[in-house]
Amino acid sequence: MDQVPTLAANGLNMPVLGFGTFRLDEETVRAILPEALDLGYRHIDTAQVYGNEAAVGEVISAAGLARNELFVTTKVWVDHYEPTELMQSIEESLARLRLDQVDLLLLHWPVFGSKGMNPTLETLMRARSAGLTRHIGISNFNIDQTEQAASFCGEGTLATNQVEYHAYLNQRRLRRVLGRHNLVLTAHTPLARAQLVNDPVLWEIGSQYGKTAPQVALRWLIEQDRVAAIPATSNPHHAKANIDVFKFSLSQQDQERIAALDRGERLVDPDELSPAWDD
Ligand SMILES: NC(=O)c1ccc[n+]([C@@H]2O[C@H](COP(=O)([O-])OP(=O)(O)OC[C@H]3O[C@@H](n4cnc5c(N)ncnc54)[C@H](OP(=O)(O)O)[C@@H]3O)[C@@H](O)[C@H]2O)c1
Repeated sequence: MDQVPTLAANGLNMPVLGFGTFRLDEETVRAILPEALDLGYRHIDTAQVYGNEAAVGEVISAAGLARNELFVTTKVWVDHYEPTELMQSIEESLARLRLDQVDLLLLHWPVFGSKGMNPTLETLMRARSAGLTRHIGISNFNIDQTEQAASFCGEGTLATNQVEYHAYLNQRRLRRVLGRHNLVLTAHTPLARAQLVNDPVLWEIGSQYGKTAPQVALRWLIEQDRVAAIPATSNPHHAKANIDVFKFSLSQQDQERIAALDRGERLVDPDELSPAWDD
C-alpha cells in the first residue's frame, strides 16, 4: 500500500492525492470507498450537494481508522451561507459524516447576497474556532474574490482554493496569487472528466515511465508546489492506477510538454454559480 505524501502548508497536512466523490451516488460510495481506503487513499472529498455524505460517514466509521489518519473535506452549499443556517448545516454534515470535526470545510461557490462574502467568511472562521473543522477554505473563487477573502480572513487563515485545474486548463494567473497567499491549490476535475485519458502526448510521455496518460496527468499536478489533486472514479482498477503515481518523476522537459497542452478548456462552468473567470 502506497503512503501518499502530505502538504504541510499552513499546518494543513493534507495528502496530495485525494478521492473525489462528485457524481458517486451512495450505493457507489459504499462499493468503491472501502476499496479506496484499502488502496491507501486517506483524503476524501465530498460536499453537501453531492448527497453522499451519509455513505461516506458509514464507510469511514466502519473502516475503524484512527481519526488522525483520515483527511475529510466537505463543502457548504450556497443556500446555507446565511450565518445561522451555515452553522446548522455544518452540524448536519458532521452528523451525516459521523464525525465531530472535518479536516477541511469549504464554501462551494462564491455566490453571495447583497452583504457580500464577509458575514459568511466570519461564520466559517467561527466554525473553525468552535472546533467543527480543523481548516477552512474556498472553492471556485476567482482572483479578486481570493484576494478579498484572504485579506478579510487574514494571512494563513484560509488553507486552499479548490478549483478546476488540469493539463488543458493552466490557471497560471490564479496559481501566482495563491502562491502569494500561501494557499494550496486543490485541483478538482484533474483528469478533465476523463478527456486526458485519450491524450496522445500524455501516452507518449507515459511510455517512458511505464505509466498511462491519466497517471501522467495526475503526477504532473502533484509534482507542483502546493498542489493537491482529487480524481474521482467508480472503478477499482482506476482507483488503483490513480494512486500508483509516487514511484516516478517527470523530467523537466516532460513537465514543459504537459504545460504546453493548455487550451483554456474549462469544463465546470455553471451559469448560475460561476464568477467572472480570469482566463
Ligand atoms: N469544488 C467543485 O466545485 C468541484 C467541481 C467538480 C469536481 N470536484 C471534485 O473533483 C473530483 C473529480 O472531478 P470529476 O469527477 O468531475 O472529474 P475527473 O476526476 O477529472 O474525471 C473523472 C472521470 O475520469 C474517469 N477516470 C478516473 N480515473 C481514470 C483512469 N485511471 N482511467 C480512465 N478513466 C478514469 C472516471 O470514470 P470511471 O468512474 O469509469 O473511472 C470519470 O469519468 C470530484 O469527484 C469532486 O470531488 C469539485
